[in-house]
Amino acid sequence: MLICDTLIRNARVLDGSGRDAEVLDVAVHEGRIVDVGRSLAASSPMQIDAKGLVLAPGFIDTHTHDDTSVIETPGMLPKLSQGVTTVIVGNCGISAAPVRLGRKLPDPMSLLGKPEYFRYPTFASYVDAIGSVRPAVNVAALVGHTALRNNHMDRLDRAATSAEIDAMRADLQEALDAGALGLSTGLAYASANAASTAEVEALAMMLHAAGAVYTTHMRTETEGVLDAMQEAFAIGRAAGAPVVISHLKCAGIDNWGRSGEVLKALDMARALQAVSCDCYPYAAGSSTLDLKQVDPRVEITITGCAAHPEFTGQSLASIAEAWGVSQLEAARRLQPAGAIYHSIDEGDMRRILAHPATMIGSDGLPYDIHPHPRLWGTFPRVLGRYSREEKLFSLPQAVHRMTGMPAQRFGLVDRGLIRRGLAADLVLFDPETVMDTATFADPIRPAKGISHVWVNGVLSYTTGGATGRRAGHFLPRQKAGSHHSTTPQAEVTPSA
Ligand code: ZN
Ligand code: CU
Repeated sequence: MLICDTLIRNARVLDGSGRDAEVLDVAVHEGRIVDVGRSLAASSPMQIDAKGLVLAPGFIDTHTHDDTSVIETPGMLPKLSQGVTTVIVGNCGISAAPVRLGRKLPDPMSLLGKPEYFRYPTFASYVDAIGSVRPAVNVAALVGHTALRNNHMDRLDRAATSAEIDAMRADLQEALDAGALGLSTGLAYASANAASTAEVEALAMMLHAAGAVYTTHMRTETEGVLDAMQEAFAIGRAAGAPVVISHLKCAGIDNWGRSGEVLKALDMARALQAVSCDCYPYAAGSSTLDLKQVDPRVEITITGCAAHPEFTGQSLASIAEAWGVSQLEAARRLQPAGAIYHSIDEGDMRRILAHPATMIGSDGLPYDIHPHPRLWGTFPRVLGRYSREEKLFSLPQAVHRMTGMPAQRFGLVDRGLIRRGLAADLVLFDPETVMDTATFADPIRPAKGISHVWVNGVLSYTTGGATGRRAGHFLPRQKAGSHHSTTPQAEVTPSA
């Protein structure tokens, strides 16, 4: 008889591959799944009867800005309470490492927290910090192009010189050697917009040898979105690296209804090269307050503002009215601030979310006072609202987009599936009740229906809240095939 430290009986197991549920027992010992099967001959001091509940691999949040929050607020309740067991940090060109701050924090690196939170001059020092803090969730990290520009350029409103590119390449190599997943860019932001395609390519060229990925917050998500997609694909082809388009959307009212074109471009590229995307399940975006995105037709809410904290949670329209100025002028006076932009069409968002190449990424901003509800709600919302209620895709397919698919795409080869030998990141949830409760009006609220969350085999969250045991690891990039498991992670063709 198998003795194990946790035994979950009679769960409806969704293994993360996209396959239908099967009622099975899962045995966990010392951080690993040690057996999966019907009526296992096993015993354990911690046995859970999971009848009626779904057991899935812990969710992987593919798109986060939790770079410093995993260290500053290691309990990570916004994510753990959704069943997330791994966060991928370093998106949109901004990362906490490797960073040497010789200046004021450039926008949008401020999304990652205060200047004093940036204390990782090398990627290896960030890996060490994760190891000593032990956040409640696992952390895997991209290197931000804007962070590299910050390290080596006197000003960010120009393209890098070849000497600066060489210096950035050295930083990137150090990070890849220390386990970074790849390179991210945020070419839409002023701090990276002047970078040429060639500058990005010169960095991306290093990814292939490392088996690493290229992710991008594209140069634009509005009128020029198709050109921006072509730029991303071209960089991926030149580099021989898989491309992940971050938070794919058609932003701005004049751009609504174009998701068909955008997805057609994605599909044409997918026929030629490795391309995918992530998406959050809301018809509103959030970032720093950007004057270029101020449009009186778009509802904009302030998520935080150092100069005028009293306006947090209020609409830009009401602030402009109170001041008797235009919204653009109000936005100028509020700088620097954070904002939510209701500038996405729900139909477009659903079409992109439902696309078979789409992974789930919250893009949550952990330091906003009045955050976008995606920070606390993304994963249960996909499961409850968009799969169960709206039937955009089946539950096995919804779980696959949060588990097996991202694990495979990012090279996290011992995560994302429920298989013997893999890491025991697991979430048990009620498929009938799982749902987000965070709203735009009341955004800091844990989801319903998440019953148990294990991170590396350690029970970290239950319906009673966090258990206080933090068991997250830094997850280095692993090349496909480097894992000893006899069950290779073949990409599963989705059925929905
Ligand atoms: Zn972004
Ligand atoms: Cu982002």
